[in-house]
Amino acid sequence: MERGVQAIIQMQINIMSRFIDSKYTLAGTGYQNLCYTFDMTYQGLIHKYGHLLDLPPHTSASAVSLLEGNTPLIKADNVAHQLGGRFELFIKYEGLNPTGSFKDRGMTAAVSEALGRGTTTVICASTGNTAASAAAYAARAGMKSIVLIPQGKVAAGKLAGAIAYGARVIQIDGSFDDALTMVIQITNKHPICLVNSINPYRIEGQKTAAFEICEVLESAPDWLCLPVGNAGNITSYWAGFKQYCGLKSADLPQILGVQAAGAAPLVLGHPVENPETVATAIRIGKPARGEQALQAAEESKGKIIAVSDEQILDMQKMLAKLEGIWVEPASATGLAGLAQEVESGRLKVEGKRVVAVCTGHGLKDPDVITKDMPPPLVVPPRLEALEEVILE
Ligand code: F0G
Repeated sequence: MERGVQAIIQMQINIMSRFIDSKYTLAGTGYQNLCYTFDMTYQGLIHKYGHLLDLPPHTSASAVSLLEGNTPLIKADNVAHQLGGRFELFIKYEGLNPTGSFKDRGMTAAVSEALGRGTTTVICASTGNTAASAAAYAARAGMKSIVLIPQGKVAAGKLAGAIAYGARVIQIDGSFDDALTMVIQITNKHPICLVNSINPYRIEGQKTAAFEICEVLESAPDWLCLPVGNAGNITSYWAGFKQYCGLKSADLPQILGVQAAGAAPLVLGHPVENPETVATAIRIGKPARGEQALQAAEESKGKIIAVSDEQILDMQKMLAKLEGIWVEPASATGLAGLAQEVESGRLKVEGKRVVAVCTGHGLKDPDVITKDMPPPLVVPPRLEALEEVILE
């Protein structure tokens, strides 16, 4: 076949697969018929990647999905430029999942598995995002959800989500780590399904983010940086990359895991009794999968580092102002760690491809932006008054 014809066919395949994969509605695009004919519209992660996930057969039979996953990988040239340029930077924007965080990837798997074996109630300890996600998937499955959260330390958007989706929300006068101990104890005693990332199906579901990145880039990136809290996500990414790159005989990425300095047990080498950080999502002192996180860093020839709250908030602002991507503080932590390493010269990224995982949407924690903000200017409802303030 002629090269030109081949190129056109390839282009058409690419365009079609974008529509077929798209989770957004096709109404009004004129492509409804095309999708109807192929009956291949996006149906969520278990449907798309179930064959690559180690899930019991009853999971896919009872798949509970909100069409999670399929999140964009956004090129961030402005931030890359700010960090010195000469490398490619992509944001895996996980805040665009149905409940606003990456947790939905693992939750579709964990809740589907629980439903498939007849469980009626799920429970989790959470800094907020797991709670909202568990509550939403349980609601869709017709199950009850109970969420334990550290008192007064959960951002408004997460708490509101958990309540809206109908969870039984219980505050613990203690930390996330205390709450996690309690949900482990209660699920050992009663037939309630634990949906924290200790649940192996959460890890299986979250591997799909690594698959998606490799599919878009047609290889793994050179570096992947991400925030680390309870360490389920770093464990999942590493497992996902090892599986995908193993199948394709491709090179593995190096992993940069980043903790908040006030909650950095994996950097300090010991648990933190009273973790404290503005990034409340990762305010965790005893990560359940800490060993696996350290293993991922070591095996990938990467590392786990810590950054200050100030660095986290600066990066949150930079990403919003330079790229139009607003993420919650914890979600800016991976990128803040990358900036620290690049600026200090410890990490050479020239000519490399770097993916920063931004785990949750900025709307999850609006207070962090508005609490110190002066109220916006008020002007009388007259054109001249507006002209006076906006024109020089
Ligand atoms: N980013 C966000 C926005 C999170 O909510 C979390 C964890 C992490 C990063 C860290 O991921 O725990 O797998 O290392 N949130 C959990 C929760 C603890 O309860 O929502 P991890």
